[in-house]
Amino acid sequence: MKIKRILKSILKWISFAILLALFVGIIALFVAYWRSTNNCDQLTATQGDKMKAIVYCDYGLANLKFTDVEKPTPTDDQLLVRVRAASVNPYDWHFVEGTPKIMRAMGVGLRKPKDTRLGVDFAGTVEAVGQNVTQYKPGDEVFGGSTGAFAQYLCRRATGSVALKPAGLTFEQAAAINIAGITALQAVRDKGKVQPGQKVLINGASGGVGTFAVQIAKSYGADVTGVCSARNTELVQSLGADHVIDYTKDDFTKGDQRYDVVIDNVANHSLSESRRVLTPNGIYVMVGGGSANEQGFVGALGKALNAAIYSRFIKQKMGMMMAQPSTKDLTLLAEMVESGKLKPVIDRTYKLSELPAAIAYLEEGHARGKVVIAVE
Ligand SMILES: NC(=O)c1ccc[n+]([C@@H]2O[C@H](COP(=O)([O-])OP(=O)(O)OC[C@H]3O[C@@H](n4cnc5c(N)ncnc54)[C@H](OP(=O)(O)O)[C@@H]3O)[C@@H](O)[C@H]2O)c1
Repeated sequence: MKIKRILKSILKWISFAILLALFVGIIALFVAYWRSTNNCDQLTATQGDKMKAIVYCDYGLANLKFTDVEKPTPTDDQLLVRVRAASVNPYDWHFVEGTPKIMRAMGVGLRKPKDTRLGVDFAGTVEAVGQNVTQYKPGDEVFGGSTGAFAQYLCRRATGSVALKPAGLTFEQAAAINIAGITALQAVRDKGKVQPGQKVLINGASGGVGTFAVQIAKSYGADVTGVCSARNTELVQSLGADHVIDYTKDDFTKGDQRYDVVIDNVANHSLSESRRVLTPNGIYVMVGGGSANEQGFVGALGKALNAAIYSRFIKQKMGMMMAQPSTKDLTLLAEMVESGKLKPVIDRTYKLSELPAAIAYLEEGHARGKVVIAVE
């Protein structure tokens, strides 16, 4: 009887502790949500040199502003770059919309975006360098990735993901390379480990990553199948695809062909459907997927987690990749473009002031190659 009473009392205290922890957690979340803020009130009240940039104080496309902000000054290890072109990636609309929502809890800003500046991919001219910078000098033409690329100027650590732009590339071509090109290269070379003669399928072959991936897989000697809609079949063929599947007519997961590597930029099939078309030792590389209004709370991360678990129980490898910034890869990609082995496909070019329209277009999910921003 006594033991029963003790157990009952322990259970009561454990339940009480759990309820208290939940209550404290909810209050902490509520406080963190309302305290979540950014530097918007100080942005325009600056005294020094100014420049035009895209700024957003709250989530949502309607909140993007083309405005004057303080021109940045490089630290000892940085370059000051006059941006001549930038490019837009789904990465940017994830930040604009704050989706999937889990991103907000992971440091992007619960109620408002913590960082009010947008953009990553850029190409431009070095205007000044910090005193420790030896690799670059004023006048050099560079390209790569940096936060705040949707602006007239940016500061970038000289040892970060930046490389010299070969003279044979336009600023627009160079700006198109960073995220999409590096992702495609690392998907084909590092994750897919594509070998000459292998059969490689690229789902979403006509988008930013896909147009690079088709050409890179081809340059590795693969037999490439691109999946896109009818209006893009000619484009994908012109990039070197040996076969094209029009997804509006045929479902590649239902066909008889088996692939050594599937690079999936759309992730619109279940893992078991995608596995069905893999050879016994095939590799499925999930790059991303889901349109801007399909992100929900976890977006592609849910499928990535499933793939990591699923992969443990099967012979094939299935998983999501995360592209890694790399100056070496930037240089390699630029050399491939300069030598004619790779062609950045540019769908549309917008002005910096038109960035909301550029992002709205990308959010529709049907860009043909890259959407570029020309910066005056
Ligand atoms: N994991 C990483 O490190 C990483 C890096 C970069 C990007 N990503 C992710 O990868 C994904 C692709 O990026 P992206 O820059 O290529 O995007 P994107 O340029 O917006 O891709 C648009 C393309 O997707 C095609 N598409 C749409 N629905 C399709 C379907 N059902 N089947 C086949 N193709 C379809 C469209 O072709 P149609 O017009 O013919 O429909 C269009 O050409 C995004 O989710 C992005 O967030 C991940």
